[in-house]
Amino acid sequence: MESKRTVLISGGAGYIGSHTAVELINAGYYVVIIDNLTNSERDSVAGVEKITGKKVAFEVVDTCDRAQLKTVFETYPFDTVIHFAAYKAVGESMAEPLKYYQNNLVSFMNIVAMMKEYGRPNILFSSSATVYGEAEHLPVTEQTPRQPATSPYGNTKQIAEDILRDSCRAYDNVRGIALRYFNPIGAHPSALIGELPRGVPNNLVPFITQTAAGIRERLSVFGNDYDTPDGTCLRDYIDVVDLAKAHVATVNRMTSDKMEDRYEIFNIGTGRPISVLELLTTFENVNNIKLPYTIVDRRPGDVPAVWAETSRANEVLEWKAERTLNETLKSAWEWEKHVRNII
Ligand code: NAD
Ligand code: WQD
Repeated sequence: MESKRTVLISGGAGYIGSHTAVELINAGYYVVIIDNLTNSERDSVAGVEKITGKKVAFEVVDTCDRAQLKTVFETYPFDTVIHFAAYKAVGESMAEPLKYYQNNLVSFMNIVAMMKEYGRPNILFSSSATVYGEAEHLPVTEQTPRQPATSPYGNTKQIAEDILRDSCRAYDNVRGIALRYFNPIGAHPSALIGELPRGVPNNLVPFITQTAAGIRERLSVFGNDYDTPDGTCLRDYIDVVDLAKAHVATVNRMTSDKMEDRYEIFNIGTGRPISVLELLTTFENVNNIKLPYTIVDRRPGDVPAVWAETSRANEVLEWKAERTLNETLKSAWEWEKHVRNII
């Protein structure tokens, strides 16, 4: 392994991490995956190996544990980390804020501190469109002011962005890029890796696929009285393979010394707003399935609409979302069928 071509992926057994591992390997990088498997299974690493035909270095490591991380840093010669490892359930973060601040912030501070200590310069951080809250102007650009966080989860993203920004300012050998993901959905076209929520899904697409599989009785559409074309919320749904490729473009930028600033931010979305009902009917049409649903009250905390201005990522990262919503929603259903053994 050579250091400039080796990437450490924390949380790499998870949904976005496993897809990113595939795309990095396909682009010629070596990857080292660390994950404590609190929200994922070893199977996803096996899926990455099956798709790529390459053996992957994988260690069960808790990024909150510095001693475990030290061994990783002393064993592998990466110069770049992609830090996915975090808890991500917004509702749970309201009920158990300390669990979120502890895991999401301690793990990130450990990663930044160790990168600095070992002279490994490149840190890519998984941020979220949640930092924009209810924006005054749409689509949101990277300059759109962040709104005060409405959940501890969202707050961990804002604080971690600030930790990275300040570390890049202060330490010569640290540089960072925060990618603000919009709504990642879908699965790898092989159906060998995908999203595996534990318990009742909070997010729309896993709830839809589980309803289609008969695990959930019906979908609740949270509100149809928003000030939007069909009254349901608008989001920017980004295919997970496209999102994974954005990470490859970002790593290319960092490892080829192309960064203009020591800390940079990019929105990663499609730039296209889609309503809940539009997503639902597209899923029905491409998969030839009828989904039972009921319109219910708004879900507290939901913003009416948010979507990305993506020109900075398109131009600077030379990346853009390519998969169609049809392809993405087909892949989401293929994955659910694979998981549930539905023929
Ligand atoms: P995920 O839960 O599938 O993946 C996160 C992985 O991190 C899991 O495999 C989990 O086991 C692992 N992990 C958690 N804490 C850990 C720790 N202390 N040590 C080691 N491993 C740990 O989630 P995902 O959807 O792949 O999200 C990845 C990242 O992207 C997260 O930081 C998340 O906040 C961020 N993000 C996700 C979304 C989304 O909608 N999925 C949107 C924006 C940002
Ligand atoms: C999408 C739309 C719901 C479920 C969340 C996090 C955000 C980011 C991405 C990590 C909304 C509607 C949903 C359902 C529904 N994650 N909906 N019925 O809320 O945009 O973003 O995931 O950073 O931080 O907040 O995504 O998939 O939950 O909802 O009608 O059963 O679908 O109201 O309009 P959201 P989501």
